[in-house]
Amino acid sequence: MLDKILADVDAVLKQFDAESSSVQDEKQLDALRVEFLGRKGKLTGFFKLLGSLSTEDKPALGQKINVAKAHILERIASLAQAFKEQAAKGARVDVTLPGNDIFLGRLHPLMQVLDEIKDIFKGMGFTIEMGPEVESDYYNFEALNVPADHPSRDLQDTFYLANKLLLRTHTSPVQIRTMERMPPPVRMIAPGRCFRNDTPDATHSPMFHQVEGLVVDEGVSFADLRGVLLAFMRKMFGPQTEIRFRPSFFPFTEPSAEYDVTCILCAGKGCRVCKDSGWLEISGAGMVDPAVFGFVDYDSEKYSGYAFGMGVERIAMIKYQIGDIRVFYENDVRFLNQF
Ligand code: PHE
Repeated sequence: MLDKILADVDAVLKQFDAESSSVQDEKQLDALRVEFLGRKGKLTGFFKLLGSLSTEDKPALGQKINVAKAHILERIASLAQAFKEQAAKGARVDVTLPGNDIFLGRLHPLMQVLDEIKDIFKGMGFTIEMGPEVESDYYNFEALNVPADHPSRDLQDTFYLANKLLLRTHTSPVQIRTMERMPPPVRMIAPGRCFRNDTPDATHSPMFHQVEGLVVDEGVSFADLRGVLLAFMRKMFGPQTEIRFRPSFFPFTEPSAEYDVTCILCAGKGCRVCKDSGWLEISGAGMVDPAVFGFVDYDSEKYSGYAFGMGVERIAMIKYQIGDIRVFYENDVRFLNQF
C-alpha cells in the first residue's frame, strides 16, 4: 500500500517535470502551480492521504511529498525568474514600441531670417561688419550729424548708461566705425541688436534687431540704392515684390526716405494687414549726408554714398505673417517649433 502511494508521488513528479518543460509564460506557469499545489492540486491530495496512514508509514510519505513539494516550488521559482528576465530583455528591443521623441534644437526664427538677409547681401558683394551694443554718444548720435540738444534725439528714446555711454538705438553707428577703419569703396551691412525705451506692444519691443547698409564709392546714386533694395526684397519676398520711397528725414542722410514693400498678403490690392494701403513699411534710407563724411574724413566732393536700415523683426513678421512682435522673445516652444 505505501509503496503504491510512493510510486504515485513519483508519477506525479514525473508528470510535473514533463508539463513544466513546455510552459511558455507566466500565465501557464500559474496554471501549473494550481494544477499541482492548489487546494485540489495533484500533490496536495497526498497530504490528505497522510491522515489515513499508520504511524510507521506516515514519515516515509511525509518526507516523500515534502521533497516533491520543494522540487516543484524550486522549479516554479526558477521558471518565474526566467520569464521575468526575458520580459525585461524583450522590453529593451521591442521594435513595435513607438520611438522616443528627439527634441532637436534649431536657430531662432529671427536668426534664420537674419542668416537669409546676410546671404542675400553677401551675394551682392556686401561685407558684414559689427559694432558694439554699448555705444558712445559720439557714434550713436554726434558723428551721425545729430548734435547735442538736437530735437531729433527725442525721436529715439535712449537707454543711457554711465559715462556718456548708451545702448545703441540703431545700427547706424557701425557706418561711422566702418568708415573710420577703411577708405572708400565701402559696401557693407551691419546686423545687430538695438535698444529703445519703448513700451512693448504688438509692434514695439525695447530690444530689436536691425541690419544697416552702407555703400560709398565714386558716383553712387539714389538709383543704386533703389536697385539694391528692390533686388533684396524680391529675393526675400518673391519676384512680384515692388518697393516705394516716401520722403522723410534723418540727420545722417540727405535726401532721406522711408521705404515700403508691396503687401505680400494681398499683393498690393489692400487688406487688413497693410491697412488697405497695399504697402508695408520697412525702414529708412537715403544718400549719406556730406556732413557725415566730414566726421570720418571722406572727401565728399569725390565720393557719394547711400545708407539704409532694415528691421529684422519687421521682415520676419511680414515673411511669416506674424501679427505680434512679442512672440519672438517669449520662447514659447509651440511658436518656435513652427520654424
Ligand atoms: N537708423 C535709422 C533708424 O533706426 C534708419 C536709417 C538707416 C535711415 C540708414 C537712413 C539710413 O530709424
